[in-house]
Amino acid sequence: MDKFDVAVIGSGPGGYVAAIRCAQLGLKTAIIEKYSTLGGTCLNVGCIPSKALLDSSEHFHNAHKTFAEHGIEINTPKVNFEQMVARKQSVVDQTCDGVKFLMDKNKISVFEGLGSFENENTIKIAGKEEQKIEAKNIIIATGSKPTELPFAKFDKERIISSTEALKLPEVPKKMVVIGAGIIGLELGSVYARLGAEVTVVEYLDRAIPTFDGAMSKEITKSLKKLGIKFQFSHKVSDVSRKGDTVTVKATNKKDEEVSFEADYCLVAVGRSAYTEGLNLEAAGLKAGERGKIEVNEHLQTAKSHIYAIGDVIKGAMLAHKAEEEGVFVAERLAGQKPHINYDLIPGVVYTWPEVASVGKTEEQLKEDGAQYKVGSFPFRALGRARASGDLEGLVKILSDKETDEILGFHVIGPRAADLVAEGVVAMEYRASAEDIARMSHAHPTFAEAVKEAALAATDNRPLHV
Ligand code: FAD
Ligand code: NAI
Repeated sequence: MDKFDVAVIGSGPGGYVAAIRCAQLGLKTAIIEKYSTLGGTCLNVGCIPSKALLDSSEHFHNAHKTFAEHGIEINTPKVNFEQMVARKQSVVDQTCDGVKFLMDKNKISVFEGLGSFENENTIKIAGKEEQKIEAKNIIIATGSKPTELPFAKFDKERIISSTEALKLPEVPKKMVVIGAGIIGLELGSVYARLGAEVTVVEYLDRAIPTFDGAMSKEITKSLKKLGIKFQFSHKVSDVSRKGDTVTVKATNKKDEEVSFEADYCLVAVGRSAYTEGLNLEAAGLKAGERGKIEVNEHLQTAKSHIYAIGDVIKGAMLAHKAEEEGVFVAERLAGQKPHINYDLIPGVVYTWPEVASVGKTEEQLKEDGAQYKVGSFPFRALGRARASGDLEGLVKILSDKETDEILGFHVIGPRAADLVAEGVVAMEYRASAEDIARMSHAHPTFAEAVKEAALAATDNRPLHV
């Protein structure tokens, strides 16, 4: 039986990054993946394919809606959806091959097959042939899967999860999306841009409810302009399919039953930790609350040599959070003392405009009873935004009333996903709003909106509004 210092179960961004860092630190490392391609949810059916379709559909939208204003005349653009999906797949394939290359480069042994515990140090791998390996330390990185509503079982044809929504055979005529969270808005945007009539039905009273309220308000405004209809404060009670038609029934605030018909229904109500087939009991472990694996502050399970990271444990279900945890565990195994600042994991919604946030929302600060200042600045006041025609959105900075320390950094607008990095750096170094306000930001850039919002937060002295 092959013996390793570390065996990683699952090759998503948590698992494969953990394996690379373990190998860099001189540990003999194995990675086990049940699918034939590496990269997990993120690379195969998550971050990468969704961003490929978001980018392609955004190009189409611009060709259709904004080229003429820029003085570019083309015949009416048409969607070749088959090609769009094929391109997405080639982006996915290249990215997954990249992970395979990195495994080989770092001399990590890759095992294909379902990994399950035989005992607390032995893993059985059910692949083409059954294999067993032994490891001193094990990292569980088995990720998550889409949550199913009890009354809306995925038939994977018309009642679908994000996985199927990334490879539909056609652009839907009508799509009902259940859940105005990140997947609902991202994939809802893709199909709205391509011409589908999209209705988003949400249980709570606003979109992306974990983000700052101002972000919810602005993104709803922008997506309504795109044609997406929102039905907030609606409790979905039934989803049924007859032929090619799906009917979604819900109860609204007035307690009236309403129904929506569509040819596709995307259920995007969250994701659940995935531990099926792991046979945790054989290692003396069990899944805890909501199927998640419980870990301590060092990411150790009840067995100190078995760690768990990423979507399968508590916290944000994000690729970069999983990656940080992968590095954290590898470095601990090598005797280092790593640290993760969970308060500063940024969150991004890749709609257009993009939404990106780090730190506390205004709602959280109110709830904490914190004394804070707010500075915001609209993109439409920036020369760079006028040049590109990306006028929607704003930067909102929240800082401590006494010390001016930045407590929350929220952006909706062009390149928000990239702009939020400035907020993370600033907050990691516990900068004040005035620190950002006094730093030179290149002109003309979208980043100037950050400086202006910081000026507004410091003592209400933005220069360009
Ligand atoms: P996963 O990526 O889920 O990987 C787990 C792997 O373990 C899988 O490959 C699985 O097959 C394997 N596995 C499970 N059980 C076993 C077993 N017993 N034996 C062997 N292998 C096993 N996050 C972002 O940060 N940015 C984004 O833009 C983003 N976009 C997303 C878009 C969509 C549509 C979805 C669904 C998710 C998106 N996410 C995004 C979330 C992101 O994909 C996850 O947070 C991330 O993939 C979690 O990484 P992980 O390593 O914990 O698990
Ligand atoms: P989500 O948690 O972001 O949103 C789910 C939404 O569904 C919430 O607004 C919730 O109130 C609503 N909801 C729940 N039950 C409902 C019901 N019965 N009826 C109506 N609405 C209901 O989950 P989502 O969008 O499925 O995404 C899962 C996770 O995947 C995200 O939380 C995120 O961690 C990750 N992800 C990250 C992305 C990114 O970083 N850009 C992109 C896509 C996914």
